[in-house]
Amino acid sequence: MKNHVLRPLFVAVGVVVLILLAREVLVPADFGVQERGYMYGWHRKGNEADWKNVRVKYRTTAYCKECHQDKYADITGSPHGAIMCENCHGPGLAHPDDPQSLHIDRRRELCIRCHFRLPYQASGRGRIRGIDPATHHPEAECVLCHYPHNPRWTPGKEARR
Ligand code: HEC
Ligand code: HEC
Ligand code: HEC
Ligand code: HEC
Repeated sequence: MKNHVLRPLFVAVGVVVLILLAREVLVPADFGVQERGYMYGWHRKGNEADWKNVRVKYRTTAYCKECHQDKYADITGSPHGAIMCENCHGPGLAHPDDPQSLHIDRRRELCIRCHFRLPYQASGRGRIRGIDPATHHPEAECVLCHYPHNPRWTPGKEARR
């Protein structure tokens, strides 16, 4: 065969060899063909163990209730009863071992996230009672007037529930 035919062939073979070498280096050993049940799996077998080791960050209200019965009693049956504690306080994985890990956020932004008035009445979010933060007592934190664990109760006033 003539040289000008062979040369591009060498290039093509070289490219294939490079791809195979790269594959050897980049693809983890446990990817792909495994024993029965994993035979054609387009995934890395060790990934299963990786997911089993992932620690779930959120512990749900049932966990908080054990130690904070007062807050649990306040929020239950209140308009905020459906909101998980960790929705406002952050994930409880390291709590109470690391007391700094949960935060108390008194900024207006925490509440505005759900209470900024939206005009979409058909959506669940649109039905949450809304305020306009620019005109609704912009000078103060919401928690000065509304108790977050039972927003029907106002400091200094009888509970309305
Ligand atoms: C095993 C008991 C226990 C459990 C369960 C528990 N806590 Fe606590 N929590 C504590 C203790 C103890 C403190 C510290 C009390 C103090 O400093 O006055 C605390 C403090 C807090 C604080 C105040 C933190 C601060 O910066 O002052 C918040 C908020 C809180 N917990 C929320 C939660 C939430 C939300 C959950 C559920 C994810 C939860 N706790 C579950 C025991 C617990
Ligand atoms: C709607 C948001 C929201 C939810 C839901 C919520 N909290 Fe709070 N929590 C706050 C805010 C804001 C403060 C600070 C209140 C203040 O300083 O007046 C606070 C304060 C606290 C404190 C420490 C201050 C205190 O008054 O003793 C604890 C403990 C606490 N929350 C626990 C809980 C637990 C337990 C739950 C679930 C049963 C929960 N919270 C649900 C917003 C929330
Ligand atoms: C995760 C969403 C969410 C967050 C965050 C939240 N709320 Fe609410 N809030 C609700 C829902 C849902 C209701 C019940 C539906 C309604 O009354 O519109 C409600 C009801 C209320 C009400 C009306 C109570 C009544 O008279 O019936 C007030 C006031 C209120 N929240 C204040 C606050 C304040 C203050 C904060 C911040 C500390 C806050 N909310 C954070 C979802 C939220
Ligand atoms: C200075 C006190 C004060 C502050 C600060 C305050 N509010 Fe209010 N809020 C009230 C009073 C009083 C009412 C009931 C009368 C009314 O509707 O204006 C009310 C009513 C509400 C309602 C019910 C509205 C309705 O349609 O029934 C929501 C929701 C609410 N506030 C959320 C908030 C949020 C979120 C913040 C912070 C961004 C906040 N408030 C800050 C005093 C306050």
